[in-house]
Amino acid sequence: MKWFITIGVILVIASCAKDEGPVPMPRPVPPVAPIDTTTDTTIVTIDTAYFTEVAAIFHAKCWLCHPPYGGMDLIPSEAYVNLVNVTSTNYAPEKRVVPGNLDASVLWHKVSGDGIYGTMMPPPGYTQLTLEELQTIQDWIDQGALNN
Ligand code: HEC
Repeated sequence: MKWFITIGVILVIASCAKDEGPVPMPRPVPPVAPIDTTTDTTIVTIDTAYFTEVAAIFHAKCWLCHPPYGGMDLIPSEAYVNLVNVTSTNYAPEKRVVPGNLDASVLWHKVSGDGIYGTMMPPPGYTQLTLEELQTIQDWIDQGALNN
């Protein structure tokens, strides 16, 4: 029904534009047509689940040292509140994890091993993250570090 009204208003406006008579009154704003979500490319799909995927990695490969190291407990029930938007102990004022911002996240620099914030995590000699696990952590931070 709304498209019908919209087209009607457009036809009225179009016919006004052809008139050579007096200046028309301000035109009413045409009603907004409903958004067609089937062709909307702005929809973001979130496919990384924090608790079952990311916290599970922290549990398996980080929790043996955290706590106590870095003043940080990475047990699944505590990891989120100890990471997201939390100021780092050893690298303050930087944050451990900044949602949507890998470069501002100390944890990302540590696990990707670029050396900007000291030793890589897990440290050399301990069970390393697989490329898939690294990708999961990257996607999680990129997608807004949700607690999902
Ligand atoms: C063998 C022990 C060990 C393991 C395993 C380990 N870490 Fe660490 N981690 C440390 C030590 C020691 C420090 C403190 C020195 C430093 O900052 O490098 C630290 C510091 C950190 C920090 C900085 C904390 C802060 O606020 O200062 C982060 C983030 C971190 N680790 C993340 C991780 C993650 C994520 C994992 C698992 C993928 C992990 N670590 C596994 C020993 C470990």
